[in-house]
Amino acid sequence: FLPPSSGSAGGGVTAKDELGNDVIASTYLETHGAGDRSLVQGLKGDPTYLVITDDGGIDSYAVNAVCTHLGCVVPWNAGANKFMCPCHGSQYDSTGKVVRGPAPLSLPLAKSEVAEDGKVVLSPWTETDFRTGEAPYWA
Ligand code: FES
Repeated sequence: FLPPSSGSAGGGVTAKDELGNDVIASTYLETHGAGDRSLVQGLKGDPTYLVITDDGGIDSYAVNAVCTHLGCVVPWNAGANKFMCPCHGSQYDSTGKVVRGPAPLSLPLAKSEVAEDGKVVLSPWTETDFRTGEAPYWA
């Protein structure tokens, strides 16, 4: 047995759009500009935000949209620059770090990368959570 080499999509899935089609980075970026956070279907089918960097690329992290309070899908509010849960008012900053309860934890991260064939691949985030400096509680 050989583990997948680093940089490969080990444990990864291709992000899907709302129609179930693979997300192709070049096409996606035509309609999603800098700072955009929009939902795709990610790991385990979870709604997941792809993050567009300030210079218009797909960021290396994606944000799981399932509220850590009771599981509502948390909308992105571009005006407030936050994810704001409509169910009980929890808020998360633009990286998904919790900034207001009742949510107990930040939104889980996923790794996001563009494969050689141009598709966006999401895989489990097992490294330190860059927002908290702690081990990922979801891994
Ligand atoms: Fe999001 Fe309760 S489910 S605040």
